[in-house]
Amino acid sequence: MAASSSSSGSAATSAITAVLLVASLCVHGAAAQLCEDYYDDTCPDAYDITRQVLIDAHQSDPRIFASLIRLHFHDCFVQGCDGSLLLDSVPGMPSEKTSPPNNGSARGFPVVDAVKAALEDACPGVVSCADILALAAEISVELSGGPSWGVLLGRLDGKTSDFNGSLNLPAPTDNLTVLRSKFDDLKLNDVDLVALSGGHTFGRVQCQLVTDRLYNFSNTNMPDPTLDPAYRDFLSQRCPRNGDPTALNDLDPTTPDTFDKNYYTNIEVNRGFLNSDQELKSAPEAQGTTAPIVDQFASSQDDFFRSFAQSMINMGNLSPVTDPSLGEVRTNCKRVN
Ligand code: HEM
Ligand SMILES: *[C@@H]1O[C@H](CO)[C@@H](O)[C@H](O)[C@H]1NC(C)=O
Ligand SMILES: *[C@@H]1O[C@H](CO)[C@@H](O)[C@H](O)[C@H]1NC(C)=O
Ligand SMILES: *[C@@H]1O[C@H](CO)[C@@H](O)[C@H](O)[C@H]1NC(C)=O
Ligand SMILES: *[C@@H]1O[C@H](CO)[C@@H](O)[C@H](O)[C@H]1NC(C)=O
Repeated sequence: MAASSSSSGSAATSAITAVLLVASLCVHGAAAQLCEDYYDDTCPDAYDITRQVLIDAHQSDPRIFASLIRLHFHDCFVQGCDGSLLLDSVPGMPSEKTSPPNNGSARGFPVVDAVKAALEDACPGVVSCADILALAAEISVELSGGPSWGVLLGRLDGKTSDFNGSLNLPAPTDNLTVLRSKFDDLKLNDVDLVALSGGHTFGRVQCQLVTDRLYNFSNTNMPDPTLDPAYRDFLSQRCPRNGDPTALNDLDPTTPDTFDKNYYTNIEVNRGFLNSDQELKSAPEAQGTTAPIVDQFASSQDDFFRSFAQSMINMGNLSPVTDPSLGEVRTNCKRVN
């Protein structure tokens, strides 16, 4: 096994940290992989600096933590966690952020830029935009009452944005078969699907994503039969047939800004907001697959938190760019250097 240290560690540091070798430390001389201590020598305050910018942003925007974790998800699911979502469109390369799953709903970009600016100030050219999203996701969950975990770092930023790829992101109208297959394509299993969907324990969602369930489910001109009638009435008032399609609702009305297991207890009583949420419990195929996992997380917040942390690490490991010939540390998250 190779000795270990941060990527730029001195020999002395290597000797000391070799004793503490664990899987998440950087490994020299092996295929590059992500590790917790990647910036320990080059930007030791990266975590604290990011955290402070997020705390400041949250003062005026209580939704920001939810918005930031969603950015990490939408980044990682499209050509890996490479900051591809953050690039602005350029001629010949429309950005992922302008695609239907993101346009008008992905938000928090100015806060990512503020984190980047603070990090460039402290340690110029060191911390990638892809890593900022991973750090911001963990900090956001933790500050909302959820679990903490050691964020694996060392991703480089890619040089392309994949608009077409983002069209394949999991959709709110997807049924369980499609959701499982989209996760499976990325080697994420049913536990990952159910745990990561628990991200919907906070944040907001627009009316247009529930109107088909309220009024015209599967083109039947009827509501979704799996939707709890009282919750349907509540949502129908907030989202009338010809109301503002962009009006906002809480994904978890019981505790809108807290990271807890209520996403699952809502689903247990047929109060999942999106079709993709309720499918995890109510689809025929859920029996023996995802439904038992929903049940487990609804009854044990500890189990949910443990699985969520592991699944976030799994998601954060999706095709990271670590080869310097294929990526870079962007100076500005919106453009390649
Ligand atoms: C499983 C498939 C998923 C689907 C179909 C899905 C779909 C959606 C949709 C349609 C919205 C509302 C967007 C809007 O109205 O503007 C949303 C919001 C959100 N999603 Fe997901 N999502 C999925 C998985 C995830 C995952 C894996 C996470 C994070 C781990 C996540 C975190 C969030 C958060 C926090 C929000 C609220 C964002 C905000 O308030 O700005 N979602 N999602
Ligand atoms: C994104 O949404 C805005 C406002 O809703 C719209 O004007 C614009 O055309 C959309 N962009 C794309 C690429 O669809
Ligand atoms: C994206 O898809 C459109 C429509 O299918 C196609 O015309 C275009 O060439 C694709 N772009 C890339 C970069 O693959
Ligand atoms: C799920 O959706 C896909 C794509 O729309 C469809 O082909 C399939 O029949 C659906 N499966 C179920 C069980 O509804
Ligand atoms: C329900 O959806 C179908 C298919 O999209 C559409 O043809 C029909 O007009 C819709 N009905 C209402 C009342 O919106």
